Amino acid sequence: MKFTIIFGSPRKQGNTASILAPFMDELKKNGADVDYFDVYEAHIEGCKACLGCQKDQSKVSCVIQDDMQPILKSMETADVIVYAAPVYIWSAPAPVKAVIDRSVYSSCKYYGDDPYGPALFKDKRLALITTCGYPVEKGADIFEDQMKRYCKHCGLSYVGMLAERQRNLKEAFMDNEKEMRARAFARALL
Ligand SMILES: Cc1cc2nc3c(=O)[nH]c(=O)nc-3n(C[C@H](O)[C@H](O)[C@H](O)COP(=O)(O)O)c2cc1C
Repeated sequence: MKFTIIFGSPRKQGNTASILAPFMDELKKNGADVDYFDVYEAHIEGCKACLGCQKDQSKVSCVIQDDMQPILKSMETADVIVYAAPVYIWSAPAPVKAVIDRSVYSSCKYYGDDPYGPALFKDKRLALITTCGYPVEKGADIFEDQMKRYCKHCGLSYVGMLAERQRNLKEAFMDNEKEMRARAFARALL
């Protein structure tokens, strides 16, 4: 089973990275094929709404030649796409949002169109891994809703969220329970 993991936090040893590590370890231990992209280290421009992606409806495409190209290639062959990013103002951090925006119409060939063209990522599964400062139900709820709507719009199957809160900046974020939940989340996706 192939996974494309989009990691998007500027903190390389931060909270999201801390729960992503055991998640990825569990996937690999169980034989999954994992492509990992750290999008804070990539050059990914925002969608320019040029609609170049809509000209050829037969293939996933974006005319902007930057680090989004290998991500789209990986997503094309993935069974599961995983976004792993902290909550920034009830949404995704800017580099992650750029990936989401760019992936939408690269794969959905129906921008303002009637009749609709194909949804080329249809039936792929999508999971969200996130961390936040507020309690999860108030910190990660809107980010999760956005991803659910994205999945509905693009025909993907939303398979759930692993969300953890950093309750107190003075205390260590990571503990055994969070590690166990991350490993269990990985196994549930396999
Ligand atoms: C710019 C910025 C915006 C944030 N916005 C939110 C927010 O809207 N809701 C929330 O619960 N936490 C918010 N936080 C807190 C982070 O989501 C939280 O500390 C997270 O665990 C950081 O993850 P990281 O260590 O992987 O970067 C924000 C943090 C920053 C830096």
